[in-house]
Amino acid sequence: MQRRTVYLETMGCQMNVLDSELVLGQLRALGYDPIADMTKADVVLLNTCSVRDHAEQKALSRLGSMKKPKGLRPDIVVGVIGCMAERDPDGIFTKMPHVDLVCGPAELNKVPALIEEVQANRSRAVALSQSLSRKSTPVQRALEYDSVEALDLSRRPDPDAPVLQSYIRVQRGCDKFCTFCVVPFTRGAERSRPASQIVDEAKMLADRGTKEVTLLGQTVNSYVNQEDGKPVRFAELLARVAAVDGIQRVRFVTSYPGDFAEDILAVMRDEPKVSSYLHIPVQSGSDAMLQRMRRQYTAGEYVELLDKAREYVPDLAIASDFIVGFCGETQADHEASMKLIERCAFKNIFVFKYSPRPDTVADKRDEDDIPDKVKRQRNNELLALQERISTEANRQLIGSTVEVLVEGYSKAAIKAQEAEQSRGEEVTWRRSDQLVGRTHRDQIVVFTGGGGNIGRFAKVRIDAATALTLHGTLADDASDDGTKPPMADAPLTILQPERK
Ligand code: SAH
Ligand code: F3S
Repeated sequence: MQRRTVYLETMGCQMNVLDSELVLGQLRALGYDPIADMTKADVVLLNTCSVRDHAEQKALSRLGSMKKPKGLRPDIVVGVIGCMAERDPDGIFTKMPHVDLVCGPAELNKVPALIEEVQANRSRAVALSQSLSRKSTPVQRALEYDSVEALDLSRRPDPDAPVLQSYIRVQRGCDKFCTFCVVPFTRGAERSRPASQIVDEAKMLADRGTKEVTLLGQTVNSYVNQEDGKPVRFAELLARVAAVDGIQRVRFVTSYPGDFAEDILAVMRDEPKVSSYLHIPVQSGSDAMLQRMRRQYTAGEYVELLDKAREYVPDLAIASDFIVGFCGETQADHEASMKLIERCAFKNIFVFKYSPRPDTVADKRDEDDIPDKVKRQRNNELLALQERISTEANRQLIGSTVEVLVEGYSKAAIKAQEAEQSRGEEVTWRRSDQLVGRTHRDQIVVFTGGGGNIGRFAKVRIDAATALTLHGTLADDASDDGTKPPMADAPLTILQPERK
């Protein structure tokens, strides 16, 4: 088989990271090898995000840089996949006429056929998801689900390399239609995947060495799928995945505060494999803003939910998202968000400046009336407040010992090793390398240790702390023999991709 090369760049959320993995796996099986140099690839794919304008501008700028290479080698295929492809295919072709292929996020199984079509006919190829309508019944939706997500792990990038942490999609789309959000338009109607398929995938991943799985959905707690005429809800799914032998840690993102059933909290309390971690975006501390955002809960109800969650799981770590400068946000609304942050003791927060998205209710109905300067200032204020809270909380941990799943080398250690390699020196994997791991509360811990620790649960004594990172010393080093561990070639997987 003639091998060809593909360059695939991923922007945006965890869903996109998983989508890219599946597309790459599919292409690998067809004879494509991934390469790092975009200008040398036979196929260039950009997996895009539409959630804020900034992400789309970044994608356009990346595509712009392909204009020249494409001019020199017209046979390369340039494709845009993901949310921006779905949202604005015509805009992409108009602004970037050298693009050959656009493919929406629910049509990614068609990418190989689309590439072939472009190569064979030198014409454009398009696959969009309008067919995944909101009118279909739950049974039809499940069938649609199967058609877009055939359970085929050979599609994952490298079937022979063990992957410590894996994502599993449990749900596609979103039906909430928050007034600011483009996701219901780009990812379509909410569809939950059959529970048995999800459990089978967890088993296969476990057989291949996966120890931690993260269940993915836009509003993962509203998962529901019929099985033998009875509904399987998220709590049951979570328990079933946690029961899979070999899987040692189960996380899930993202939770929606509106329909968070208590039985999920009970599973989190009773099942030690389930992380004590919730990512549950609140968006604002002001009821007026929440109502304008159509979030379907009040700030008070959100706080009550967190209190209840902490009753069940006392050491629960909670992360949240905030939007600053949403239409009509007053100083008092902003202060309500500050107050909520003071009250909730989040582990960390993600703050976004409101960015109007075409077709959304807010864009059509409300005025984007908060100047960027004010948005930036409010953004910084929320982050500064949270940084103080996180630093204080993390400092409390100094002197204690935590258990982490060792994920890999820290970025600094990898850089040092790459520098050695580029100087032609033989790379040794030393006892002094910086490793990175994560606690069951999703705290990042950096510590010194040999690569033989990667992939195991290790005890680390915490010596120092910043808002985002704990630094420590291995309390039970498993390896100092300096040999290159089996995972060393695997890319360092940090489960929370950048959300900016
Ligand atoms: N439930 C989804 C939300 C996707 S969008 C999830 O998986 O996280 C992620 C975050 O981006 C949202 O929680 C919100 O805080 C932010 N966001 C969404 N639309 C936005 C917009 N138009 N402007 C600014 N931030 C936005
Ligand atoms: Fe977006 Fe709201 Fe759904 S933020 S993804 S519409 S829950």
